[in-house]
Amino acid sequence: MDGVTLLSDYKPYPYEIEKISLVFQLAPEATKVRATLAMTPRDGVADLHLDGEDLKLLGVALNGAPLAAEAYTLTTTGLTIAASALPEGAFELQTEVEIAPAKNTALEGLYMSNGMYCTQCEAEGFRKITFYPDRPDVMTRFHVRIESDLPVLLSNGNPVGQGAGFAEWDDPWPKPAYLFALVAGDLRATSGSFTTASGRKVDLNIWVRPGDEDRCDFALASLQRSMKWDEEAYGREYDLDLFNIVAVDDFNMGAMENKGLNIFNSKLVLASPETATDTDYERIEAVIAHEYFHNWTGNRITCRDWFQLCLKEGLTVYRDQSFTRDVRLGALKRIDDVAMLRARQFREDAGPLAHPPRPSSYREINNFYTATVYEKGAEVVGMLATLLGAEGYRKALDLYFERHDGQACTIEDWIKVFEDASGRDLGQFKLWYTQAGTPHLSVSEQFENGTYTLTFEQVTAPTPGEPEKPPRHIPTAVGLLGQNGDEVVPTQVLEMTKGRQSFTFTGLAAKPVPSILRGFSAPVVLERDTTPAEQAFLLAHDTDPFNRWEAGRNLARDTLMAMAQGATPAPDYLEAVGQMLADDAATPGFRAACLRLPGEDEIAAALAKKDVVPDPDAIRAARRGLMATLAQRHEAALVGAYEGSAVPGPYSPDAAPAGKRALRLAALALLSTLDQGRRASALYAEATNMTESIGALGLLVAQGAGQAELTAFAARWGADPLVMDKWRSVQAMLSPPETAVEVVTAIAESGAFEWKNPNRFRSLLGGFAANHAGFHRADGAGYALFADWLIKLDPLNPQTAARMSTAFETWRRYDATRQTHAKAALERIAGTQGLSRDLSEMVGRLLG
Ligand code: ARG
Ligand code: ZN
Repeated sequence: MDGVTLLSDYKPYPYEIEKISLVFQLAPEATKVRATLAMTPRDGVADLHLDGEDLKLLGVALNGAPLAAEAYTLTTTGLTIAASALPEGAFELQTEVEIAPAKNTALEGLYMSNGMYCTQCEAEGFRKITFYPDRPDVMTRFHVRIESDLPVLLSNGNPVGQGAGFAEWDDPWPKPAYLFALVAGDLRATSGSFTTASGRKVDLNIWVRPGDEDRCDFALASLQRSMKWDEEAYGREYDLDLFNIVAVDDFNMGAMENKGLNIFNSKLVLASPETATDTDYERIEAVIAHEYFHNWTGNRITCRDWFQLCLKEGLTVYRDQSFTRDVRLGALKRIDDVAMLRARQFREDAGPLAHPPRPSSYREINNFYTATVYEKGAEVVGMLATLLGAEGYRKALDLYFERHDGQACTIEDWIKVFEDASGRDLGQFKLWYTQAGTPHLSVSEQFENGTYTLTFEQVTAPTPGEPEKPPRHIPTAVGLLGQNGDEVVPTQVLEMTKGRQSFTFTGLAAKPVPSILRGFSAPVVLERDTTPAEQAFLLAHDTDPFNRWEAGRNLARDTLMAMAQGATPAPDYLEAVGQMLADDAATPGFRAACLRLPGEDEIAAALAKKDVVPDPDAIRAARRGLMATLAQRHEAALVGAYEGSAVPGPYSPDAAPAGKRALRLAALALLSTLDQGRRASALYAEATNMTESIGALGLLVAQGAGQAELTAFAARWGADPLVMDKWRSVQAMLSPPETAVEVVTAIAESGAFEWKNPNRFRSLLGGFAANHAGFHRADGAGYALFADWLIKLDPLNPQTAARMSTAFETWRRYDATRQTHAKAALERIAGTQGLSRDLSEMVGRLLG
């Protein structure tokens, strides 16, 4: 098919590149880039293709002599030099091009953000900078000279020369072009250092715009913690003398792991108690860690081709999740990660965009930076760690680094390392990488003469292009509890490999209560007919913190599903919440996680799975109704939790005070249904940190109130775009569905909305997409508004437009009227003249 890239078409590049030397003469409208490539044919002379897009070619020279026009062909996708024009052996190829960073609104390649130059090359942005084989398996050493009058000029590796109007950088480590970076601007550094285990001192800098320096300390400390953790947990040291991080305001994604020069969305660097929430702090630390960890899992060992993206992303997410667990959150981290996985990845896996962690075809690779590649990719690595055990996992990773350092690898290489380290056959396990869809695991139990039997059955529904789903290898961690809550059989990992399989436990005095899928040992949907009483028992007694939370979550979800269909709340659930609230042995953070009800989208998904057409208004009413019921029933305990978890003194982002604030806000959310927002207003007025300010504001907005507070907030923070993103988000996400479309429209149409900036766009439209009943308004106004904005953004920034279109991925869940409106909106996008490849691929799949 035209324009489709297939995994099965992979061929090695016919040339080696010994080194590339780049010279940039920076100018906003006409930057000149001269590239000199030292090349050698691998296997005899072949046609030489260099990728290139939107480049104005100024000249091509071979071994110093200009190349005749008939020796090459220039197309919209690149430059090809005929084999007949090339010498037998090594040669030097030089090109010169002109580009216009100031006109680059797609934020891919070299572009400008608030007067500074920066780059984003992953996945295929380098081809917008110069002609080059822009593919990850072509690795070489980069030498870069930047000519500009701007004060700070940065690139990868080590500084090797500097003078009036120029700087030169040399990166000793061969790398693919997607890890190239350049930054030039008026920047200020917050600096520190780190001494590696072997005693080398590494200079660290966080570069930001003048004025932002006072918000960098946390990012710097996070980087130091990450460097230490990677030495301790994986034995990985940093390999240059310098590590730079730059914050930029216009960025399509979160951050980028360019060698020695990470570039970050400024919202993932800048933090102060007044401007950042506890969640922001946690994310900043996690993303700093993530990008730093890529230095080994991504940079030293990279991907052969973009189909292997989860090789670096799944592993690096698994590593950053482990880091946050170890240094910050403990067991709570798993709870947060699983909640996120379900909300994003299970949703993706259940709809028209479902794809395996390693896809086998794409039109636009930027459309595959997904929850499946990242978060499910991380789950698959986690299952390997579970199957091999901690020691076996470390042994496999040591072998991975030893065997593949400096290479561009595949999932096959990765699995082989685990097979060789453990002696196991992981052929069936590999299906996790190559097949889409979330397995459903149903369980039944039997008890007879002291023998307890669990029988599992796995079924995976068909996904686009995959009608048949062979059984997967599923590690199922199980423990058994006695009726008094004692653990009678500690956690063991049952390995399921068949469609239906039984496991027995013998010598039991009485029928136990099973705790299944502890720690969420596999990314599956567990289906089990149990009584609310048994779930309440597990919520009270399970020794596995994840499953303890899960039991409460199941109760809440089942209660909400029943309420959305007209039932009244289950007494067992109401009772269990009271007991949990009173459990002083549980941390405030854990109690907060237990108090938070499943979101409306999650309830809709659960209903759809049971073949009930979800009604967004009924779901919202059920959720708010349950909040009110819980508040009435446990008012005194909630007031106690609210007042008792105030954190006096100066703000600290540490887990313990953050957990208290989380409990305080979770209790307040329930209480606000009773007190007309009285406490939320009071908290807003006295809050001294952003966590409580925005938390209180959100609760007011959710009740259709808070006008005075919204005005005050805008007056205080109007000049701080990152903080105003929160102001837009809470309104878009939490405004009652009757007014959400109008609220979003009013903000969008006010002159202050800088929609071309991805953070601004996401704050408003992304917030709105998360307003379940507002976005899915029955008259289709939500869909129409959203489509208008995607159509408007697409010509400027296709990548972000395409990414945001996933708001529509659940449209087939809803009733016929809503489906008609959603389909019309999608068809209107599809029919737009000149639609980007990015968005047209997405809309095609969404309609598909
Ligand atoms: N590799 C980056 C990360 O995960 C993400 C960059 C993705 N960028 C893109 N335009 N697709 O840390
Ligand atoms: Zn990554």
